[in-house]
Formats: sequence, structure tokens, C-alpha cells
Amino acid sequence: MAERNEPSATIEALMNEQRTFTPPLEFANQANINSPSIYTEGEDFENFWAKQAESLLWRKKWTQTLDWSNAPFAKWFIDGKLNVTESCLDRHLADNGDKVAYYFVGEPGDERAVTYRQLYEEVCQLANGLDSLGVAKGDRVAIYMGMVVELPIALLACARIGATHSVVFGGFSSDALMDRINDAEAKVLITCDESWRNGGKIALKGYADAAIAEAPSIEHVVVVKRTGSEVPMKEGRDIYYHDLIKGQPKERAATETDSEDPLFILYTSGTTGKPKGIVHTTGGYLLGSSYTHKAVFDIKDNDVYWCTADIGWVTGHSYIVYGPLANGTTSVLYEGVPNYPDEDRYWEIIEKYKVTQLYTAPTAIRTFMKWGTEFPERHDLSSLKLIGTVGEPINPEAWIWYNKYIGGEKAPIVDTWWQTETGHIMISPLPGVTTTKPGSATIPLPGIGADVVDEEGNSVPFGGGGYLVLTHPWPGMLRTIFKDPQRFADTYYGRFSKPEENHWVYFAGDGAKRDNDGYYWLLGRVDDVMNVSGHRISTLEVESALVDHPDVAEAAVVGRNDPITGQAIAAFVTLKGHVVGTEQLIAQLRNHVAEKIGKIARPASIVFTDELPKTRSGKIMRRLLKDISEQRKLGDVTTLANADVVHDIAARAAASTTSQED
Ligand code: PRX
Repeated sequence: MAERNEPSATIEALMNEQRTFTPPLEFANQANINSPSIYTEGEDFENFWAKQAESLLWRKKWTQTLDWSNAPFAKWFIDGKLNVTESCLDRHLADNGDKVAYYFVGEPGDERAVTYRQLYEEVCQLANGLDSLGVAKGDRVAIYMGMVVELPIALLACARIGATHSVVFGGFSSDALMDRINDAEAKVLITCDESWRNGGKIALKGYADAAIAEAPSIEHVVVVKRTGSEVPMKEGRDIYYHDLIKGQPKERAATETDSEDPLFILYTSGTTGKPKGIVHTTGGYLLGSSYTHKAVFDIKDNDVYWCTADIGWVTGHSYIVYGPLANGTTSVLYEGVPNYPDEDRYWEIIEKYKVTQLYTAPTAIRTFMKWGTEFPERHDLSSLKLIGTVGEPINPEAWIWYNKYIGGEKAPIVDTWWQTETGHIMISPLPGVTTTKPGSATIPLPGIGADVVDEEGNSVPFGGGGYLVLTHPWPGMLRTIFKDPQRFADTYYGRFSKPEENHWVYFAGDGAKRDNDGYYWLLGRVDDVMNVSGHRISTLEVESALVDHPDVAEAAVVGRNDPITGQAIAAFVTLKGHVVGTEQLIAQLRNHVAEKIGKIARPASIVFTDELPKTRSGKIMRRLLKDISEQRKLGDVTTLANADVVHDIAARAAASTTSQED
């Protein structure tokens, strides 16, 4: 793979990418959407979405499509009443009750097919069980689990009774879980005894117990037995999932919710140390996730679709749970890592289940490239009709590899740009219509408005670059930040909107360029948010975790380019007077960050320095540290208060060893 360059050089190279791929005729002929007129239709976005919304099961139809009068706080499908589980489960029972909803594949090799009827019945049982624990409409339920069937069941059981779920990725630490439970004031936590990962066991209940010790809102803990290991159960507070649902009726009337009632909160990193509780509501979110799922992945009734994300991230919420279930799709749900027991695990699953669509991340694709083609070549992947990517820009080499070795040069690739906040895919090809270019997410979907603007918010003509913005509301957009509407308005609508002119523009936090055809080329974050293996981590969160260690005086963190993970976390640390920076201390600090946030946030490299480079006003020059980390020639350092220090840091950084994530 080519060396990665400085971002602007990389993007120039990307934009010089001349290869184009038109949808194969055979694919286009059978596609759900095969006329470019859909884009014109989408220009009248309110009517477009109103028409698509007919596909959901409403108890009471809405009276108005969009209320934007209180911008930037949107409301979609005013007065509409529904329960998302009726669209995702009930309506499939009559004709498709025996259709498989999930083929569960456990990491150790256990497998289980769950039909729509079985899913419905267990969701109802758990909904009844949660009710018996006192969970009511509007209450928050925290979920901290591995990728087992009970995980989507837990989300849906909350939705069934109108409770708001807050899923915390199973890789997060006790501290991170505690913060999120406390912010959401969750009443119940659903977890597992342990989860399987890479052949080992992750002590989820143990971490959960540590979190709950400082989370007073939790009244009950529901524990799914996954590995069967003995875990401590606190009398009166903890109950096993199987005991909770035992004897519960397999029916449960769905609680009626308003289109704008909250469906879930999902925490994501922002530019401050405190994660934001992104709030998604009911009708618009379900519409956005189900419409885009069907349109972008070209879902057909007999498909076997597989999204490899974890349900702990938004991709799993929208494209393993709500989108696919609303469309009555059969999905694969895989518990483990791609290289257990061997590097061909994904390809083995695709061959066995004749998977038709695969949705994964560029970091995974680059890892597969590193492992070599022998692993996919061991298997028949000819069932794949379409393949997709999400989470970060995909470099053209990886795109071409994916096309050749996984898609067999016949499966269109959908590179999908979106965010936790957008709820569903925003910029992506329509596989039967849109010509693709390796490395570009192509153009906004119908019904979505995007633009690239300069510092002043003026649209940049094709051929230029700037900030990616979304120009009008869309159904699955976040409605607010939990308990912090001001932060919501400031973060997303503060930068480019002109409230006095009633002009509202959503700022995504990403840089982008548009080529002469109007294709979008994403440039990564323009704020202090890193993207490590497609996961958002704020530099400030990692800095706070480092400074929390008793030996650390000050820390600065930057994301540096990494050929596999996209970005890797590089930390620069000054120690308290008497402390000596040793290899042991590096290991301790990495562990400390893992404890405070989770293993995904551990710095790949830590460099000790007597001082951090600062401006005369005392601001840490992270840009310079990024240059050092990426071994670029250093720019002008004359504005620094302590110019000498950068050369010292550069020398130390060059000498330091890098520890990769395990
Ligand atoms: O920087 C963009 C990048 O991931 C960010 C959103 O991260 P998160 O909320 O965790 O959601 C990830 C899954 C939807 C974006 O601001 N990103 C996501 N998809 C792409 C991407 N960058 C380039 N190309 C993509 N396809």
C-alpha cells in the first residue's frame, strides 16, 4: 500500500483518481431504484419523505410532515403515532413469521436461527419482564452487552414499552459506562455475564458492577448468561434474563408512542471531554434507517444481509436492528472478531450463509489486505451482490482490493458517509443508478441536502474544498443532546447558520472537497475528534484520562495517520517533577486510559517531554505535534513560547516505539 501523505496531498491524489465504475447493467435492471429521476424527486424533500413514510406502520397518520418553526429543533410527522416494533416485528408475522430475522453466529462456533415470530415473542416476554421491574414509558434503560441475539431483543423490548435505550459499547470501561448511565439516569441495566472475544472472555458483569457502584439511578440489573461463568449476583437487584422472561406472556401490546418521542440515546465523542448523548426519536428515525437500508443496499426479500458493526455503535442500531427489521430482512449477527479461529472467519460465514450484502469498515478491509488474499480465496464468495463501507474515508487501493477480491468485480460498492447524529446514511451511491469513483462517497441521497462551504459559510464551487454541511432537515436527524439543548444548537447549528435570516445549516465537523462532477471526497474531521478504526474518540477525553494518572502533569493527544486504523492515537506527556519516564510507565499509562475509557482509546505511542509546545498565550500547538507524529517537516515555530522544545520532542518521537492495539 502506498505511504500516506499529508492530508491535502492525499486528497489531491484521491481526486486525481480517474477510475469510474458504472452500475453493471444486470444489477441496474433488477435494482430497487434504477432511475436517476429519484434525485429530482428528492429535491422536494418534505414530499419525498412523506411519500416514503407510507412504508411504515402508523397507528395514526401524521397531520404535518415537518415542523421547522422552532429551528434548529426539528419535528417530523407531527401527531403521527406508532410503535417502531410494530413495523419491525408485528407486521411480518402473518406472512413471514417463519422467516429468519437473524442467523446468529457465536464466536466459539454455536449457531442459531431466530425467526421473526421467535423474535417477536421474546421481545414481548422481555418487555413484560422490564415492566415487572418497574420500567415505564420514558424511562431510560442502559444496555452493555456482547453481540448476542438478546442484544437486539433488549433494544426492541425497550421500544415496545416506550422506554428509551442507551446502548454502551461492550468495549467501554466501567468508568465510561458509569458516566453514561449517570448522564442518562438509567433505571435498569441489561448486561451479560461475559462476552466471547478473540477466544477469551470479557467480564462484562464485573465491569458493570464497578460502574453501578457509582451509578445510584440503577435499580435492577438483568444478566444474560452467555459464557455461563459464575458471576456475583446481588440479591434483590440482579436477575438473570432467563429468569426474568420465564413464564412471561409471549404477547405484549405495544405502547403507543408519538413520532417525536425519544427512541434512544447514544453517546458519542465531541470536542470536549464529556461525551454527548445524541437523542434520536421515533418516526423519522425509523423512516430514515429503513428507507436508506432498502435503497442503498438494494435489499430484496430473499437476501441474507450482513453488517459487521457492533450494535454498540450507531451503524448497528440503524443497519442491524431498525432498518433491516423494518424491511423484514434476514441478517447475519456475528459475535466475534474477524480472525478467530482463523483469518478467514468472515469469508467462511459468507460462504455458509450465502450472504448477499456485506457492510463493513475500511479499517477491516485494510486489515484483510494485510493478511493476504489467500483467506478470501479459500471460499466461494459469489453470493455477494453488493458490498459497502462506513466509518472513514476508504483509500482507492483498499476500494479496488475490496472490489476485486471480495466483490468479484461484479458487486457494486457503496461507500456510505453518515454520523451518529445523522441517524442514517446521507451521502452514498444508489447502486443501480450512481457511477462510483474509488475513494468518493459520491453524492447526497435523494431527500438530503449537502454542500461544501468556506469559513464564511459560502458555497464553494465544484473543484474546491471546505466544510461539509447539511442544508435542510432530514427525518433521522438528532433532535438534541440529552439534557443539553444549548450544546446541540451551538455544536451543530452555531457555526454557519444565520438565525436572523432563519437560515439553518448543520455543520458535520468534517472537511470535504467536491470534484468537477460534484462528487464528495471526505477529508476527515476538522475538529479535535480522532477517527480510530472508524470510531470517534476526542483528543480531550484521552488527555483527561492521561492527566488523571498521578504521575502525569500535562498531556496532549493527536490522531496521526495510520495505514490500518486510519488514525492512531499519539500522546505527548509531561511528568510530575520527580517521575522518570520508563517503558513501564508507558504501559501503565496505556492501561490507565483503557480503564478510564476503554481499550480502543489507548494511545499507540506515548512520548515523554519536559514541555509541550505552546503559543505565547499558553495554547498547546497540537498541529505541530501532529506534524511531528507524521514525521513532516516542521513549519514555522516562531510563534511558540518555547520553540526549542519541538526539536527535542521530534527527536524523542522518532526514537519512540509504537505499540499497536491488541
Ligand atoms: O468523519 C466522518 C466519519 O465518521 C464520522 C462519524 O462517526 P460516527 O458518528 O462514529 O459514525 C460512524 C458510522 C456512521 C464522520 O463525521 N465517516 C463516517 N463514514 C464515512 C466517514 N468518513 C468518510 N467516508 C465515510 N464513508
